[in-house]
Amino acid sequence: MIQSRLSQAEISRKLAQALSHPGLLHPDDSAVLLYDLTTIKARVEELKRVFPADTLHAVAVKANPLLKILSFANNLHTGAEAASLPELFLAGKAGFNPDNIVYDSPCKTREELEYALKTGVCLNADSFEELGRIAEILKTIKSGSVIGLRINPQVGPGRIKTTSVADGISKFGIPLAQNRDKILQCYLQYPWLQGIHVHIGSQGCPVPLLIEGIRKVLDLSLEVNAMLQQKSAPNRIWNFDIGGGLPVSYYPGIEPVNMQQFAQMLQSSCKELFSGQYRIITEYGRYIYANAGWVASKVEYVKREPGYNIIITHVGADLFLRKCYNPSDWHHHITVTDKHGHLKTGIDPTTYTVAGPLCFAGDVLASDIELPVVEEGDFLILHDAGAYTLSMWSRYNSRQMPLVIGYYEMGNNFEVLRRRETLNDLLEFWG
Ligand SMILES: Cc1ncc(COP(=O)(O)O)c(C=O)c1O
Repeated sequence: MIQSRLSQAEISRKLAQALSHPGLLHPDDSAVLLYDLTTIKARVEELKRVFPADTLHAVAVKANPLLKILSFANNLHTGAEAASLPELFLAGKAGFNPDNIVYDSPCKTREELEYALKTGVCLNADSFEELGRIAEILKTIKSGSVIGLRINPQVGPGRIKTTSVADGISKFGIPLAQNRDKILQCYLQYPWLQGIHVHIGSQGCPVPLLIEGIRKVLDLSLEVNAMLQQKSAPNRIWNFDIGGGLPVSYYPGIEPVNMQQFAQMLQSSCKELFSGQYRIITEYGRYIYANAGWVASKVEYVKREPGYNIIITHVGADLFLRKCYNPSDWHHHITVTDKHGHLKTGIDPTTYTVAGPLCFAGDVLASDIELPVVEEGDFLILHDAGAYTLSMWSRYNSRQMPLVIGYYEMGNNFEVLRRRETLNDLLEFWG
């Protein structure tokens, strides 16, 4: 059974090891992001175990674009889902074969489309307009790309509006209800259109909603294939991209549906998907990375006032952008260790607000929370920080992106995945 979250005890043990590991952390490493590579590997292996063997697991680059992590995923024989040309470039640099890369974006330029089609990556068109561009380009070049169409099944939003994309109106995909016939016509008109894609949202969508979205698009694809067969057309839909979006736990004691349970539920609601007539593509990001990463951020100051304490620490809205700008939707559990990485216990009778280093009042990671007595030099552990954190890094105040370290659960091995940014890196960025 896959563990849903890393325990506080495991994390503090690892932090203590990292702090005493010669040369790993420097005094100016005021914050560090650590990845448990064993967890990432276990999640990928779980995916492979519960889906058919020929499934392409295109791991979402947007969740974690670190080159060494992408290479790690590639070595585990996943694919990569890229949502921009630079993500496509990164996936290539990480060693993914073009036919294991899926290119999704609602904003592909003609040049980007031509490049992608020449490279042979799989791509999902997001609109009729984009299909038209692809058709034009394919008149001039040959391409080995598997091309799909992103459908918005309009099953409604999940709990988090900003990461829900299957409302009646969405900027992603082709809305199904009002376009069914036009979609059928496209498959008839374009023999190279052999895939279909659905992704309804990230984190906030409950499993029944995820499955309802896939079911609706599966019904559509069965209808398309029946129509094509009836008209003796040379093609059919054989690539079915179910997107990502399985929610993970950000809270101690909360056990969400795991991938094995999800695959079983999907199989019982969408049997045809597993009948062998389709190659499934998945695009999970959060499920693979979120629970595998955590941040240790030094407490620089504790401002004590009657009735409240404010902690000033070294990460805030730069690394936890969603949490700070949208605190009611996002959560990262916080625990405290001393300067050696040992867990602190007990509860300070005065509550704490945890604030980042940036110059705006909303740079707050948690308000009025209970913590043990916190002192300068302690570490705050921000749990479940492995997805959509570094990838959303904000340059505000030009603070340096922190050191990133990978480790295996057992043993003392650490690997620097990305060094802390230097002042010269910043000069290059802004110069
Ligand atoms: C098209 C697409 N696929 C996959 C994902 C990954 O979602 P998650 O990280 O929740 O699995 C996203 C996330 O926004 C997405 O937009």
